[in-house]
Amino acid sequence: MKTPREIKLTIDGKEITALEGSNLVTVAQQNGIFIPSLCYYDHIDPPLGTCRVCTCNIDGKTGPACMAKVKEGMEVEIEQEALNDLRQAIVEMIFAEGNHFCPSCDKSGNCDLQHMGYEMGMTHSRFPHLFKEQLIDFGPKRMIIEHNRCVRCLRCVEEVKTKDGHRVFSFCNRGNKAMIGIDYEKEAELTETEALNAMDLCPTGAILVRGQNALPFGDRRFDLKSVVKTPSLVKEEEKKQQHLEKKTIATISLAGCFGCHMSMLDIDLGLVDLIELVDFNKSPLTDIKSFTKRCDIGLIEGGCCNSENLEVLREFRQKCDILVAVGECSIWGGLPAMRNMIPLEECLEEAYLNSITTEDGEYIVPYHEDLPKILDKVYACNEVVKIDYFIPGCPPSANHIWKAVKNLLWGEQYSVLYPEFKYD
Ligand code: SF4
Ligand code: SF4
Ligand code: FES
Repeated sequence: MKTPREIKLTIDGKEITALEGSNLVTVAQQNGIFIPSLCYYDHIDPPLGTCRVCTCNIDGKTGPACMAKVKEGMEVEIEQEALNDLRQAIVEMIFAEGNHFCPSCDKSGNCDLQHMGYEMGMTHSRFPHLFKEQLIDFGPKRMIIEHNRCVRCLRCVEEVKTKDGHRVFSFCNRGNKAMIGIDYEKEAELTETEALNAMDLCPTGAILVRGQNALPFGDRRFDLKSVVKTPSLVKEEEKKQQHLEKKTIATISLAGCFGCHMSMLDIDLGLVDLIELVDFNKSPLTDIKSFTKRCDIGLIEGGCCNSENLEVLREFRQKCDILVAVGECSIWGGLPAMRNMIPLEECLEEAYLNSITTEDGEYIVPYHEDLPKILDKVYACNEVVKIDYFIPGCPPSANHIWKAVKNLLWGEQYSVLYPEFKYD
């Protein structure tokens, strides 16, 4: 067999030496250059090329880096505004298509998809979440297959095999009905170690092994990252127009748990400094129930699950110059949106009629004209009104919230440490 020769290529203008024919993503990694990737797994050759998260420019053409083999004179561009945006849009679509409730996911902190979101500085998805009803398959002997989280990368189809070489997973259906199938008999032939390897191989939390709980904080694969690049929310030219006069803030909790408000209070004595800079108007923090003036900024916790939430949110949009969605529930529905995959009628029956706490003869779904009407699903705030900025987290840390607010109000420098930005 011919020994591969050394060649030279450039990645974002940096000259690199590599063995001809090596995979571009691996070559970049070996040289400390990060190309986002999700389905790529260096043991699988030819690569799967199913996710397109690794899209970059190769010799003037846009395409997946994981499908490219390096050659003499190759010119690769990764860091370009349009390419960054395109890759982020792909990750946003993956999130919007699945049902990803990270705070309740065993893979959180070990998940490649979640990590991609963080690395790209994704704050929200610009695509509407589909909330498709998906199967959670408890049929296999050792595994649980959580189709809500499967990104159909096909790693499992390609790699997970029994000792005699039979595939355990398969790819079924087409289009938006496509899904991963599992052969229960073949799965039962896997050893515990092989099942655990399949769980590790999956880039998301779609393959779980019974009895294996989530790892504690600090022991997870992506816990050690230290810094995230966070772009300034306010552009330089806008900063010049900022004044340092006292500003007015309003806050509200819609369909949320008040965790984001608790987090706002977490700056402890920092609140005393903040009071010098801002007046709080309508807010659970002040117990002021109605707006007494127009506000510079409104912070919204929670999504919209009932008619009152809609009214309040619309009022905030009218009365606040800048509206910020704080926390996952306001950004896309968060944990309350777990009900979005189930018809409302079934949710109400489960809560009020079939509940173990329902008294005999008290089978009533509460209804009164004074009670807010429950909506068919939980809506993200930006599905109802225009949201200017998003601060992700469940909840976002106090430092993250106030750094973002100070940046928006006075153009103060804004950068957050990775642990402040990360919330899983
Ligand atoms: S698989 Fe789990 S941790 Fe990963 S993005 Fe989905 S819900 Fe979040
Ligand atoms: S189960 Fe996991 S490894 Fe298999 S296709 Fe889905 S995301 Fe990929
Ligand atoms: S990592 Fe390249 S297409 Fe998925």
